[in-house]
Amino acid sequence: MIEVTIIGSGNIAFHLAKAWHKSEKVKLKNVIGRNQKSLDEFKQFANVSSDFSSIGSTAVCLLAVSDEAIGSVSEQIPQGDYLVLHTSGATNLQAISDKHRRGVFYPFQSFSKNSTFKYAEIPLLLEVGTDKDKELLIQLAESFSQNHQFLDSEQRLKLHLAGTFVNNFANHLFQIGFDLCQANKFSVELLKPLIRETADKIMHINPKEAQTGPAKRNDKDTIEKHLALLPEGKSKEIYKLITSSIQDI
Ligand SMILES: NC(=O)c1ccc[n+]([C@@H]2O[C@H](COP(=O)([O-])OP(=O)(O)OC[C@H]3O[C@@H](n4cnc5c(N)ncnc54)[C@H](OP(=O)(O)O)[C@@H]3O)[C@@H](O)[C@H]2O)c1
Repeated sequence: MIEVTIIGSGNIAFHLAKAWHKSEKVKLKNVIGRNQKSLDEFKQFANVSSDFSSIGSTAVCLLAVSDEAIGSVSEQIPQGDYLVLHTSGATNLQAISDKHRRGVFYPFQSFSKNSTFKYAEIPLLLEVGTDKDKELLIQLAESFSQNHQFLDSEQRLKLHLAGTFVNNFANHLFQIGFDLCQANKFSVELLKPLIRETADKIMHINPKEAQTGPAKRNDKDTIEKHLALLPEGKSKEIYKLITSSIQDI
């Protein structure tokens, strides 16, 4: 059993705690955080504490804190015989204080506390500061998902960038579509089969082949009519930029 302590009580901490509290390969010892209200949600999984100096005996200390807090929180926790991991795609391994054995455990998925996941299918991107910790990190990864590989900090940032387009930016476009429906008093339910098909289709053909619509067909009249419906502002600029980007591909 790998003993694990989680620091942080946000989205990632919640899903890792949920997966590991019933794992036969991991013993979740403690969840440490500064936010008493969100720590209460972790009492179902492990002991909770707000004392960052009380790490005790553990094999892994996983920092599930905001990217910008990784350095200061890793500095606050005492040096010990444990591997300190962060969970960030866009943060270098070296952001963790060099007084620790360091590594990265980056689940490549978008987590909110109230979502449910098949954890075993989530890709995990791993990195270790020293090869001696590789086996421990592989064992920890396998307690969560069989889908894991090692990427260094530079490669991980590039993957994070690709993820930002397909997740955060796509989600923002969904929001613009929802806002247009609501402004015109249509149910957003009308959009959902289209959203599902958009995501399903690219599971078996590539996005370039899957593209349809006025930009792809260079249907200038429709493009002009759409632009006339949009008020001046960011949505209109996004429409023009994405239309031009589709036509350049
Ligand atoms: N959510 C995702 O989809 C996702 C996916 C992959 C990787 N990640 C990575 O996972 C990490 C955590 O993300 P998250 O989504 O779980 O964030 P989150 O829900 O915002 O939680 C962040 C946690 O960090 C704590 N924190 C922030 N600054 C702190 C400080 N200075 N000292 C102590 N605790 C501090 C917060 O405490 P308070 O509640 O008191 O603010 C909270 O418990 C980040 O590195 C992120 O890049 C996130």
